[in-house]
Amino acid sequence: MKALSLFLLVAVAGSFISGCSPAKSPPVSARARSARGTAPFEQGPAMRNPDAHMSRDFSSQRVSYSRVSAPGPYVALTFDDGPHSSNTPRLLNILRARNVKATFYVIGKNVDLYPDIVRRTVAEGHELGNHSYTHPVLSKLSQAALFSEIRKTDDAILRAAGVRPRTLRPPYGALTQSQRELVMSTFGYPTIMWSVDPMDWKKPGAGVVTSRIVQGTHAGAIILVHDLHASSVDAMPATIDSLLRRGYRFVTVSQLLAMNQSAQAQVIANPETLVQAGR
Ligand code: NI
Repeated sequence: MKALSLFLLVAVAGSFISGCSPAKSPPVSARARSARGTAPFEQGPAMRNPDAHMSRDFSSQRVSYSRVSAPGPYVALTFDDGPHSSNTPRLLNILRARNVKATFYVIGKNVDLYPDIVRRTVAEGHELGNHSYTHPVLSKLSQAALFSEIRKTDDAILRAAGVRPRTLRPPYGALTQSQRELVMSTFGYPTIMWSVDPMDWKKPGAGVVTSRIVQGTHAGAIILVHDLHASSVDAMPATIDSLLRRGYRFVTVSQLLAMNQSAQAQVIANPETLVQAGR
């Protein structure tokens, strides 16, 4: 608990000096405003998400989540429908420059097409989640077809990257309550929905995606983005930099779920990186 208190103290002191509270809806920054309709890539060195070595171990108490009760300004960025041959590598570069770890809800069919990208995603510290094999409306499938979609994706991820996903995001968010319970009892996957949805799949432009995410984000948020679309990836530098500036810290979905069990949350922060992040 001591380590947790110390970490929170440092994080809060470092992050909230600007007077922005992530608990409230923060104002859109000048930079986010300027991102609308302009080049999405920011000039100068990228801000860095601090290293924070947090537990990824969770034993889910719930069948599904759309947000988490986090003990600090932690959020999970999630990217659906990849891997994509060019957008995903470009996104990985953007995340690497900022030391941001994200969660990728991949489609099994695409994993089989681009196993190298999946391997790179895992090698760079990101988490993979199951987003079905062919992206159907799972709620309309039989139990056998549902299990086949999940299993084939699980196997594709294991073949490509040597890891198994630990959570499921149903395409279109479509999974009935009884299916969620079944998936939990059979595969041990909690169903992961989202609390921030910029509707980026409608391609409203990178600036709009950024401003929707920045305005909607809150502590414990699960942010939904699609790395299938170039314009969504275009929005990420300004989005991530703006959220970092507001004091948010990026973790994976498993880390966020582990935090949800606050009594068990293990937070061992490296004070040096936190001080650097507070600059
Ligand atoms: Ni999808």
